[in-house]
Amino acid sequence: MLQASCPMPPSFSLALPHTILFMMNKLIITGLFAILVIACGGNTSGKDVSTLDGKAIYVEKCVVCHGMDGKLSLNGSKDLTLATTTEAERIVQITKGKNTMTPFEGILTPEEIKAVAAYTMTLSAQ
Ligand code: HEC
Repeated sequence: MLQASCPMPPSFSLALPHTILFMMNKLIITGLFAILVIACGGNTSGKDVSTLDGKAIYVEKCVVCHGMDGKLSLNGSKDLTLATTTEAERIVQITKGKNTMTPFEGILTPEEIKAVAAYTMTLSAQ
């Protein structure tokens, strides 16, 4: 009766240190692998810097009229997902403005305007 309440085999206490060591090894290997994956993932996503900047600028300066997806069309603004203009034409329009659209010359640098124009090109693809 007393034996039944303690089903652990005597060898268990001896096996324990090995089990812990084995588990720690596995944890360390898993940890290293995770770091490797994070490091490599960061490299690939860092490739397309212009699109990332363009999106940040768009969110900051353009969503008020065009909306997150470009479809808001506030204040008579065009649905950017349906726009057929080229990237070069958009750069001119963003720089100089048009009707109620703000000219971004002096607000954004030419590089930022190029990046945000490139980002609007990705909206029409969706
Ligand atoms: C104050 C509101 C407003 C803001 C802010 C604004 N736009 Fe516009 N946008 C408009 C309006 C209005 C039009 C349509 C102008 C027209 O053709 O009469 C337009 C048109 C456009 C077009 C042309 C679409 C086509 O048919 O080719 C692009 C591209 C564009 N905007 C990009 C942007 C970008 C990028 C930003 C941010 C840097 C921005 N807009 C910020 C109001 C705005």
